[in-house]
Amino acid sequence: AEVYLNGKWLKPDEAFISVFDRAFMFGDGIYEVTLFYKGKGFRLKEHLKRLQYSLDQIQIAFDAFSLENLMLEAIDRADLNNADAAVYIQVSRGAGPRSHFIPEKIKTTILLYAFPVALEGFENKTWEVMATEDKRWHRCDIKSTALLANVMANEEAIAAGFHENLLVRKGYFTEGSHSSLFFVKYGVVHTHPEGPEILSGITRAEVIKICTDLNIKVIEKAVHIDELVEVEEVFVTGTTTQIIPISSITHKDKTVYTTRKDSLTKKLQQVFIKRTR
Ligand code: PDD
Repeated sequence: AEVYLNGKWLKPDEAFISVFDRAFMFGDGIYEVTLFYKGKGFRLKEHLKRLQYSLDQIQIAFDAFSLENLMLEAIDRADLNNADAAVYIQVSRGAGPRSHFIPEKIKTTILLYAFPVALEGFENKTWEVMATEDKRWHRCDIKSTALLANVMANEEAIAAGFHENLLVRKGYFTEGSHSSLFFVKYGVVHTHPEGPEILSGITRAEVIKICTDLNIKVIEKAVHIDELVEVEEVFVTGTTTQIIPISSITHKDKTVYTTRKDSLTKKLQQVFIKRTR
């Protein structure tokens, strides 16, 4: 498969960026991951809108919507119209002499490529997760390539045999290291409100919409770790995650939650599959 880099389609091992690229030196860039179900793009406009928001927030002047046709082309060129696939987009501030201020006249580095994803059977999975302190910065609404805290959190979980790490800030769950997070308490769906402490997930928004359509009440309010005794179901969502129920949560080597039910999560999965495929 080919990658798109700054106006050219190239073989991956022939695509190079400068060692002075600011995404390489500072994590000074923005990214998106978008899904194509058998060639059918999922909420592309919403992804591009979020990309534009992130770019605007860090003052990279670039029109995110100019990438739409290239995304479709990436799927075509990788011959992924009949498979489940994702398109990765990265907009870096570009290359310039290393400085903490943003150099003038800097040219963005645009990278985009498609790759296959294995989504088949996601609805049969359950994840055992751990929970640790959320050590990320206070602008998690920006989809920045500076993902070191996410990487460290996820690695800690994977190394200990878990599937994901749920992040906790001042006692309240924010989201997963690479997923949005939902709780069901007394039949009501709870999720952290949008704002600087979480990424505004595209799958999250879809799940909220499904709940609304099904007359399931959603409260956008953070859940405290001490509230887990009242929680019936926990699930995570994301572009590559879809909707996966959490079977247990381990915090400081203690199991603080095990599944009590899964009926609401199963219902949401079914409707999500119907609406997206
Ligand atoms: N993850 N929160 C974080 C910190 C994420 O990195 C992601 C996405 C999400 C879910 O957002 P969305 O539904 O828009 O993918 C939430 C990667 C990109 C993924 O799951 O593919």
